[in-house]
Amino acid sequence: MLRLHQLTKKVWKMSASLKTYFDSDTNNATHIVWDSENRKCAIIDSVLNFDLAAGSTSATAVDQLVAFVEEEGLNVEWILETHIHADHLTAAAYLKDKLGGRTGIGAGVVDVQKTFKKIYGLGDDFVADGAQFDHLFADGEEFQVGALSATILHTLGHTPACATYVIADMAFSGDTFFMPDSGTARCDFPGGSAAQLYNSLEKILALPPETRLFLNHDYGCGGSRDCCWETTVAGQRDKNIHVGGGTTAEEFIAMREERDAMLSMPRLVLPAIQVNMRAGELPPPDADGNRFLKIPLNAF
Ligand SMILES: [Fe+2]
Repeated sequence: MLRLHQLTKKVWKMSASLKTYFDSDTNNATHIVWDSENRKCAIIDSVLNFDLAAGSTSATAVDQLVAFVEEEGLNVEWILETHIHADHLTAAAYLKDKLGGRTGIGAGVVDVQKTFKKIYGLGDDFVADGAQFDHLFADGEEFQVGALSATILHTLGHTPACATYVIADMAFSGDTFFMPDSGTARCDFPGGSAAQLYNSLEKILALPPETRLFLNHDYGCGGSRDCCWETTVAGQRDKNIHVGGGTTAEEFIAMREERDAMLSMPRLVLPAIQVNMRAGELPPPDADGNRFLKIPLNAF
C-alpha cells in the first residue's frame, strides 16, 4: 500500500487531464484521462447505444467523444474496460477502429467468457481465452498512459472481471462503489460475490484518502439530485451508506445479498454481455452478412 501511495504522490506533479461523458440512456460515465504534456490518453468504459426494440446500434453519442479526442489532438493509447458491463454495449471496437489504441481489461474476463459461452450456447468459433482484447491485466500490473504512471487493481465481487485503474491521482473503480448516498454495486450476476466485493472496497479505501474516485454509474440517488460520478476515497470511507463508518464484512454481506435478491435484471443484459465479452465486436455475420444477437431463454 505504501508503494501505491508513493506512486500517487510521484505522479501528482505530472499533469493529468480528464473529461467525462455521461450517457443518460444507460447512466454510464465514460472517462477520458490524458497526459497533458504528450497528449496520450486512455478511454475508460465507452458506450455504443443500442435500441432494444429496433435491434439497432448507434454511435451518435460516442461520436461526440471521438470529435473531442480529434479536436484536442489526443493520441489514444488505451481503450479500457473496468468489467464486462451488463447494462450497455461497449464502443471499444468502434473506438479502436476510429482512433486506434489497445483494448484492455482485467484477466478475470476469461472466467466471464467461460460462463457466458455456456449460457449463450456459443460454438468453437468463440474461444474463451481473452484474446478478443489486446491486453489482459494481471492484478497489480503497472502500465503507462503517456508519462502518467498507472496501476490496475483487481476489484472483484460485482463480476469476476472487475478492476480499478489507478492513473495519476485518480482511480476509476467501475462498478464497486456508487456515490456515497447510493452505496455499492450488486453482486448477484454469475461469478459475483458480496464477500469479494467487501474485500475489493477495502482495497480501494486503502488508497490515499485524497485520491479522486471516478465511478461508472450514477442514477441521481433515485432522482433526488443531479447525476454525479466523482467522489474521493475519504468521501467513501466517511459517508458511503453501505460501508462508511466501519461496517463489518458480515453486516455488508447480509445487506448486499438481501438487496440483490430484490433486483431485476438490467434491460440490456442479454444483448450487452455477448458483445462486451467480444471486446465490442458484434457477433460474426451469417452467409448473407447479417448479424444476430442470441437471447437464451430462462437463463436467469
Ligand atoms: Fe456493471
